[in-house]
Amino acid sequence: MKTRAALVGFGAMGKAVAELLKNHMDLCLCGIVDPMSPSCLPSLDALNEQPDVIIDFSHPDSLPMLAQYIRAHGTPAVLCTTGYSEQQEALVHELSQHAPILRSRNMSLGVCVMERVLRMITPVLNGYDVEIIERHHNKKIDAPSGTALALARAVESCGSFTEVHGRDGIVGARKKGEIGIHAVRGGTIVGEHEVLFAGEDEVLSIRHSAQSKRLFAAGAIRAALFAASAGRPGLYTMDDALFGGKEA
Ligand SMILES: NC(=O)c1ccc[n+]([C@@H]2O[C@H](COP(=O)([O-])OP(=O)(O)OC[C@H]3O[C@@H](n4cnc5c(N)ncnc54)[C@H](O)[C@@H]3O)[C@@H](O)[C@H]2O)c1
Repeated sequence: MKTRAALVGFGAMGKAVAELLKNHMDLCLCGIVDPMSPSCLPSLDALNEQPDVIIDFSHPDSLPMLAQYIRAHGTPAVLCTTGYSEQQEALVHELSQHAPILRSRNMSLGVCVMERVLRMITPVLNGYDVEIIERHHNKKIDAPSGTALALARAVESCGSFTEVHGRDGIVGARKKGEIGIHAVRGGTIVGEHEVLFAGEDEVLSIRHSAQSKRLFAAGAIRAALFAASAGRPGLYTMDDALFGGKEA
């Protein structure tokens, strides 16, 4: 029998998830909730059947509704919405005591693997200069991207580093232990992240390129199957879904 998912949010990402689930082998939709859309259910309480898992690609304002439902039913959830306040982040932590909650600001399988690779190679390439370059479309309002910061955190988890955001003017020679982070904006670039390890006479570059938003929907579906079968409450990440949380 297929795992039943309820979708919260029916914008660009919700529609991408629904499209991928039309022919999915293991996961099917049992309801779509979006209080802003007349074609969707107004709340999770209006579902005809209880879902095995909730996938949320909506808005931080939907968190109280999700919280109420998760507390009442212990339903596993994959929270993909970004922009939570500190208070809302604390609520997500509290919910993870009631149900398996998988939370990730980037549902891409490639970026998750990239973070793991960075944790593996940073200690080996000790002393190499690390620079992160991210490229996004000209409509993006924040910089650097949350993903660039997450990649920096992966490097920083391996030692002592100082982030330098862009360079301008007579900044002097590059200091050891810096991570340069640079944001490029232009056209319709969906999202590119590159991490450079520059050493004596060699440069290693690890690069991820997002070609459409569909990859985030595919990652959310993979995460939903993991959360539905996690079995015990807790706060999980994409790394748990892909690698079972075990370090290589
Ligand atoms: N984690 C990831 O990998 C990832 C990837 C892409 C997008 N996102 C995030 O997912 C969210 C949705 O992205 P999108 O591109 O579909 O945005 P969108 O603007 O196209 O859609 C947002 C949807 O949320 C709905 N909504 C608004 N308020 C709501 C509420 N109170 N309850 C339920 N639904 C509500 C809107 O009606 C709309 O359908 C954003 O926060 C975005 O940053 C995360």
